[in-house]
Amino acid sequence: MKTALITGVTGQDGSFLAEFLLEKGYDVHGTIRRSSVDFRERIAHLEGHSNFHLHYADLGDSMSVIQVLNKVRPDEIYNLAAQSHVQVSFDSPEFTADVDAVGVLRILEGVRQCGLADTCRIYQASTSELYGKVEEVPQNENTPFHPYSPYAVAKQYGFWIVKEYREAYGMYCCSGILFNHESERRGETFVTRKITLAAARIAQGKQDKLFLGNLSSLRDWGYARDYVECMWLILQHDTPEDFVIATGEQHSVREFATLAFHNVGIELEWSGEGLDEKGIDKATGKVLVEVSPDFYRPTDVVNLWGDPTKARAELGWNPQKTSFEQLVKIMTDADMAKVAVERASENVRTNLAEFLEKGIVK
Ligand code: NAP
Ligand code: GDD
Repeated sequence: MKTALITGVTGQDGSFLAEFLLEKGYDVHGTIRRSSVDFRERIAHLEGHSNFHLHYADLGDSMSVIQVLNKVRPDEIYNLAAQSHVQVSFDSPEFTADVDAVGVLRILEGVRQCGLADTCRIYQASTSELYGKVEEVPQNENTPFHPYSPYAVAKQYGFWIVKEYREAYGMYCCSGILFNHESERRGETFVTRKITLAAARIAQGKQDKLFLGNLSSLRDWGYARDYVECMWLILQHDTPEDFVIATGEQHSVREFATLAFHNVGIELEWSGEGLDEKGIDKATGKVLVEVSPDFYRPTDVVNLWGDPTKARAELGWNPQKTSFEQLVKIMTDADMAKVAVERASENVRTNLAEFLEKGIVK
């Protein structure tokens, strides 16, 4: 039985990867952080599984990293932990650098210091944000990097330090340069999930309007469940190499919103430009989407489009397993169900309060 360590197991990708590795028969260890509230809902269904174990560790704290490495002595490490929100990295640049850049070094050096350098394979969660202010479209493994946010600059250090340890010490460590991947478990402040949740709430009368930033931004959006398979395939490759993981298809934020609202029964039409652009419900004439400068970034990456040729050829991975339309449907269906459940429990609470007040129940 192989042993895997996943940093960031409570995140979107970590939760899917843990499921995937457990199904493959791995002993899976994940790192968690202490929080005053319980944010483990993405892995709640795995807790109690005999091959699933959790350990406290923070990528900002080398002692905790070394302690967990020594205890688990993994065959494979998936370093997914990061401050992963690009906009937040402008507000917390130092924290982002510490975790997303130096944190990678802490893992690599920890592996060496624990005597695991010859046996342990390391996957680093790198990102299409490295291409930033893009110098070529579409982007592949040879496209020059031009990071365009504190997040991307930190991740660029992570990418190069992995390459350095591979070349300097012959370690099996590599980066997956993953383009945006989304799911029903995506954090609620990333644009796709923000849209599907708002569309579901608006359709069920729980929200009036959605405010977004740059509607013309282009992304290559894939399904996270498909992408975790690739992380594993990268570590099973004969030689440690870096791979671009993407669908090879590009869509705008506006297109994503149009499709998400369509899926909940609302046809949007767009009018105006820039900050004045609005998404209007064709049936009622109501403005449902507006642009707010609050969601503009000091520097924004606007043209990401990946070329997954190498991953398809060398890993046998299928970049088109889940289509863009299927992805948006998975997300909107999940959010429609989530909002319906919230409404039902609200109704129960309201009825109960009313019955208590009237003395119908005591
Ligand atoms: P996510 O949902 O935000 O999850 C991030 C994980 O990192 C969470 O488990 C979080 O723990 C953990 N974490 C944050 N700071 C930490 C610290 N100081 N020490 C230890 N753990 C820490 O992100 P994701 O979408 O799953 O992405 C996974 C990785 O892939 C990230 O490195 C991200 O930058 C990268 N990536 C993502 C995409 C994408 O489109 N999703 C694309 C390219 C690259 P808490 O739950 O305690 O906050
Ligand atoms: N978050 C957000 N909120 N983004 C918005 C909004 C909004 O209201 N309106 C427009 N956008 C635009 C952003 O300006 C950006 O151009 C695009 O939508 C995507 O933003 P996010 O969903 O926040 O993702 P990201 O591309 O910045 O970063 C994600 O993908 C990277 C891979 O390219 C994250 O998962 C990163 O961790 C990952 O590395």
